[in-house]
Amino acid sequence: MMTFKHITEIIASKDSIFPCFKDEMKSIQKFLPVKNPDFEAEFSTYQLLYGPEGNRIYLVGLGERKEAVKMVQAFQKLSFEQKKFWKEEIQVYTNGLSSEEIKKAAIGIAMSNYEIGQFKSEQKKSSAINISFASAQDITETIEEAKLTGETINRIKALVDAPANHKTPEFLANWAEGSAAKSNYSCTVLRKDELEKQGFDAVLAVGKGSVNPPVVIVTEYKAKKDAAFDIGLVGKGITFDTGGLSIKPSQNLHYMKSDMGGAAVVLGVVELVAKLKLNINVIGVVASAENAVDASSYRPGDVINSYSGKTIEIIDTDAEGRLVLADALSYVIQKYQPKQIIDLATLTGSVVRTLGNSAAGMFTHNQKMAGRMMEAGDKVHERVWPLPLYEDFDSDLHSDIADLRNFSGKPVAGAINAAKFLESFTDAHKSWMHLDIAGVAFGDSKFAKMKSASGYGIQLITEYIKSLN
Ligand code: BES
Ligand code: ZN
Ligand code: ZN
Repeated sequence: MMTFKHITEIIASKDSIFPCFKDEMKSIQKFLPVKNPDFEAEFSTYQLLYGPEGNRIYLVGLGERKEAVKMVQAFQKLSFEQKKFWKEEIQVYTNGLSSEEIKKAAIGIAMSNYEIGQFKSEQKKSSAINISFASAQDITETIEEAKLTGETINRIKALVDAPANHKTPEFLANWAEGSAAKSNYSCTVLRKDELEKQGFDAVLAVGKGSVNPPVVIVTEYKAKKDAAFDIGLVGKGITFDTGGLSIKPSQNLHYMKSDMGGAAVVLGVVELVAKLKLNINVIGVVASAENAVDASSYRPGDVINSYSGKTIEIIDTDAEGRLVLADALSYVIQKYQPKQIIDLATLTGSVVRTLGNSAAGMFTHNQKMAGRMMEAGDKVHERVWPLPLYEDFDSDLHSDIADLRNFSGKPVAGAINAAKFLESFTDAHKSWMHLDIAGVAFGDSKFAKMKSASGYGIQLITEYIKSLN
């Protein structure tokens, strides 16, 4: 348990944390027990000094001013490694930080609370600790927002890190229903019969080989009474991607439990927007299925139908994400006509080879949205980088026997081809954006030995939504 509160002044006898930029340590000298401590304030380093009462005084290195965008990491690391020594209360000195920077510090501390070992038979005991943010200004709102943000990120990471035998499509549906009830938004789950009735043929095809039936989760948060949705969010929710009959190699296959990373962002953003009571109407749609190998799996060569009525020739059953997204995109556009629509998906290995773990691939015809999204990404350090939707690629998805095929068959431009496929299901919506988050949703970190969820996307999309007002 961690609680956050605002205090006006640091009490010298208590534990405290002092953020330090390079060559800017004069202003905190009066709080330190020694003159000129041996500390260079390199980014994400820290130095522990002991005060007159044996209290802990941490100097946290933030590097150069321009590195401040990454501050979440520095505070997450300090708190992750040191919080076991903290008792009851620790103070954070925030004078000299902007409210954005205070928010980052607080999110980092909140994120250090994520406990990855949820399935261990013995759970770690954590004691209650109060984090007091000292500032001359009233920063109550800032730290409350940071706390809700950090907590939501932690819930989303737990979801992405959960194993696929626990995390079925139905499990995601229950998660969303629970979240909606608790955070005051609405949630409807379309289960198998309903999906059949309404023609979600692509979602059903992908889910056919699994004993865990597919679902489509529809969440709505409406701050304004008028019916129009400002934004529609669509997430890929493949709870496990074996590749299907076009089966994946077994090395690293266990990480394919994270193939619902896009869905997790959508669920997390709707929850957070509701908790923050942002003045916006959002609809979030998650298309969830397990892509399994079985006698009843859909096959390469099959022709399937889709919600839009377009027929699709399946070339590769491992290109399943674009299929479930196709139905979800058509559905949200036809039924809800959101002004803008953004889909998020761990869609291709190709985007990982292109941008590594440093940015999501961003595809859109709308330059205004692109500019805004890049700005939001730079601000929260969850970056996006533009990739093209050139017409040159249209012919790659031609099929002789159906309206289009789901894979070009070529070993080039994989992320672009996937985005082009999705584009066919957007009804030429002027404000559609696709984010391929395969490289950023899940990976190596300082906080786990194996690859794990990053929480990428929650701050990005929430910041983007705030920028619309
Ligand atoms: N879920 C994968 C993409 C992925 C790869 C996510 C690595 C995270 C890490 C996706 O469904 C997939 O298998 N994509 C194929 C598409 C291909 C068969 C057209 C790919 O990118 O290789
Ligand atoms: Zn796949
Ligand atoms: Zn996949």
